[in-house]
Amino acid sequence: MTPRVLILGGTTEGYALAETLTAKRDLQVINSLAGRTASPRLPAGETRIGGFGGAAGLADFLRLQGISAVIDATHPFAASMGWNAAEGCRAAQVALLRLDRPAWTPQPGDRWEMVDDWEETVSTLRDCGARRVLLAVGRQELAAFAGLQDIWFLIRMVTAPEPLPPFPRARLLLARGPFDLSAERELLETHAIDTIVCKNSGGDSTAAKLVAARERGLRVIMRRRPTRPELPLVTRIPDAIAWLDWVLPGSNPALDP
Ligand SMILES: NC(=O)c1ccc[n+]([C@@H]2O[C@H](COP(=O)([O-])OP(=O)(O)OC[C@H]3O[C@@H](n4cnc5c(N)ncnc54)[C@H](OP(=O)(O)O)[C@@H]3O)[C@@H](O)[C@H]2O)c1
Repeated sequence: MTPRVLILGGTTEGYALAETLTAKRDLQVINSLAGRTASPRLPAGETRIGGFGGAAGLADFLRLQGISAVIDATHPFAASMGWNAAEGCRAAQVALLRLDRPAWTPQPGDRWEMVDDWEETVSTLRDCGARRVLLAVGRQELAAFAGLQDIWFLIRMVTAPEPLPPFPRARLLLARGPFDLSAERELLETHAIDTIVCKNSGGDSTAAKLVAARERGLRVIMRRRPTRPELPLVTRIPDAIAWLDWVLPGSNPALDP
């Protein structure tokens, strides 16, 4: 029987993995999306959309669908899904791998302040004297910042929040990465930004703002990644494929009875 692999996606890496596995391997690939985006980019192969109903729901799905392996390629900040994947795969006794992009690390000249949650982000912003802020966080995370009366925000996101929290002074900029360095330089200059607030997503697509901030000596308030379960971890698609070769039934004759 052709092995079935579930990819927990919603990221560039999940998309690329689904495309690669569908094109190159004798596998059935199911790509899973949470359903947050109205018209998501769908990779080759099968896609299912929507939550599973927690870890127990995921375990039921794995059994019913006869899934042999799961790759958690969700965004570094999608930690709930990561914990559910660990618990669901353990319950259904299915192998699980984490495909993650490396976190950004500060370089000489960076002025980063690392924070652990949105509450700390807001208090750091209030105390540091920021006046004009590029706010590059998610839709659900905006509300915490709307009470900062003395700060003007440039709010950049992919999809408009419905509704936009009542910011007294803000401009909404709808844009999807990748963002290049010259455009990021111009954005910071045009809006006289003095501080960037973002999360440590990692990856190349949105990293140029950090280079532009370094060049201008701007403050960056960087939210650390949430904790995820300890799992076999890879950062590159070829390594995910090598892991599949190892765990899929019949792929390692030395271990078969
Ligand atoms: N958080 C970010 O900054 C961010 C950025 C870019 C893309 N994304 C993508 O957006 C999705 C949602 O992110 P989030 O931060 O809201 O996740 P989350 O807080 O970790 O997950 C919340 C719930 O959404 C469902 N879910 C999440 N990812 C799923 C997937 N790939 N397939 C099916 N159900 C999924 C699960 O529902 P059930 O409990 O019902 O199973 C999960 O318990 C993820 O797929 C992630 O890769 C997130």
